[in-house]
Amino acid sequence: MQCNEITNKKEVPAELTVEIEKLSNLGFGIARFNNYVIFVENSCPKDKVRIRLTKKNKSYANAVITEIVEPSPYRCKPVCPMQKVCGACQLQFIDYKFQLEQKKLIVEDALYGLNIKVNNVIPSPKITEYRRKIQYPVSETRDSKRIIAGYYKQSSHELVNIKYCPIQPKTCDVIIDYIRTKAKEFNISGYVEKNHSGDLRHVVIRSSEYNEKNLVILVINSQKVADKVKELAHSIFTELENIAGVGINLNPQKTNLILGKDTFVVEGNGFIEEKLCDKIFKVGADTFFQVNPLSANNIFEYVKKYISNNFKKPIILDAYAGITAFGICLSDIAQKVVSVEEVKSSVDLAHGIIKENGINNIELNNIDAGKFFEQEISTKGRHFDITILDPPRKGCTKESLDYALKLTKSKIIYVSCNPSTLARDLKYLVEHGCKIESVQPFDMFPHTYHIENVAIINI
Ligand SMILES: C[S@@+](CC[C@H](N)C(=O)[O-])C[C@H]1O[C@@H](n2cnc3c(N)ncnc32)[C@H](O)[C@@H]1O
Repeated sequence: MQCNEITNKKEVPAELTVEIEKLSNLGFGIARFNNYVIFVENSCPKDKVRIRLTKKNKSYANAVITEIVEPSPYRCKPVCPMQKVCGACQLQFIDYKFQLEQKKLIVEDALYGLNIKVNNVIPSPKITEYRRKIQYPVSETRDSKRIIAGYYKQSSHELVNIKYCPIQPKTCDVIIDYIRTKAKEFNISGYVEKNHSGDLRHVVIRSSEYNEKNLVILVINSQKVADKVKELAHSIFTELENIAGVGINLNPQKTNLILGKDTFVVEGNGFIEEKLCDKIFKVGADTFFQVNPLSANNIFEYVKKYISNNFKKPIILDAYAGITAFGICLSDIAQKVVSVEEVKSSVDLAHGIIKENGINNIELNNIDAGKFFEQEISTKGRHFDITILDPPRKGCTKESLDYALKLTKSKIIYVSCNPSTLARDLKYLVEHGCKIESVQPFDMFPHTYHIENVAIINI
C-alpha cells in the first residue's frame, strides 16, 4: 500500500488497539489505522487503547475505548466526579499544561498552510471556578417528579443532575440546589422537552468575578406560571446571600435557544458588575460577555499593550462590539473609538457604562456590522487606524472582510473563538495582500476543546 493511500473502511476491524496521536478540534483523540482516521471519545494523546468502532464513514470512524492498555503519562484525576457522564468538560482528565500544548496544536492544524507562527497559549488565571455564566437546563424525574438541573451528557439531550460543578463558583451550586428544593414548594414543575410541557425550562446565572454577586434568571415555558415563579424569585432574593437580582424570562417556543425575547426583572437589579482594565461593566442576562472574565481581561490588556506600543492616539473601529468591552478598555489610549453592535440591549448597557466611567471619546452604533461598513464607505468616508473584528463563531462574511480592508489604514485585530473560521478568514485576508503578524491563543475555557485567538494583521 502507498503511504498516502487511505484504507478502505471495510478493511478496518470493528475492534482494534491504537495509540492516540493528538486531539481533534472537537476534543476527540485522533488515532489511525494505516491512513484511516479514527476519532476516539475520552482519550488522551499517548494513550494505548483497545477501541470499538461506533460509526464508520468513508474517510473516518468514531470509536469508544473498551480498555486502556497503557495510559498516557498526561492523564490525571479529574477535579469533577461527574466528568465521565457530563458533557461539559471533555478534557478534564488531561493535565492542564498538556491541554494547553494540545490546544496550540489545534490552532496550528487549523492554520496549516498559511505559514503563521502560533505563540504558546496564555493559560487561564483560574482553572476551577472560572465560568461565570451558567445555563442549566431544568427537567423532572419521570415518576417522582423530582426537579433535576445540570448539563446534558455528551452529544445528547439526556440531562445529568449536577449538584457540584468545580468549574463554576460554589454559590451557583447553592442557588441551583435551592431552586431544586423550593420549586416543589411553589408547585413549579420541571420542563419535559419531549412533550414541551412543564413550567421551568432553564436557570441562567451570571456570577460576578469582581464582587461575587449573582443575577438569577428563571426561564419559564408559559406566561400562565409567572405568578408562582415570581414567588420563587422573591424567595431566592430574600433568603440567599449575594443575589444582585432575579428575573423571569419567557420562552414558550419549541426551540434549543435558552432565552426568549423578554426578560422581566422581578427582584433587585437586572445586571451584575464586572471589572475589566480598571473599568466597571454592567452585564445583563442576555448580554454577550466573556464567561471567564479573568482570561478576558488578559486578552483586553494584551491588545491594549500592543496598541500603546505601536500607535499614538489611534482612531479605532470596534466591530461586533457587544457592550463595547474592547472599545471601553482602549478608550484611554485612543483618540476616538467607534463601535458597532446589532443587539440593542448591549448598546443600551454600553451607553450607561461609558457614562458611569466618565468616558467621552466613544461613538456607539446599534446596527448590523455589514450595513454600517457599507454606509461608512458610501456616505461617510471615514477611515480607522485599527479595526477590531470580534465576530461570532461563524466568523466574518467575505463582504465584511472586504469592507474592513477598505476602512482600515493600518491593522486589523481579529479576535476569534473558532480556529477554523479564523483560518478561513485569515486565508482570505492573505489572498488580498495582508500579512499576518502574529497569532496569540488564550485559554478561556479550561478543560474544554475551545480556544480563543487574537490575530494581528497588517494591511
Ligand atoms: C464574540 S461576541 C464579541 C463581543 C465583544 N467584542 C466582547 O468581547 O465582549 C460577538 C458580538 O457580535 C454581535 N454580532 C453578531 N453579528 C453581528 C452583526 N452582523 N452586526 C453587528 N453585530 C453582530 C453579537 O451580538 C455579539 O455581541
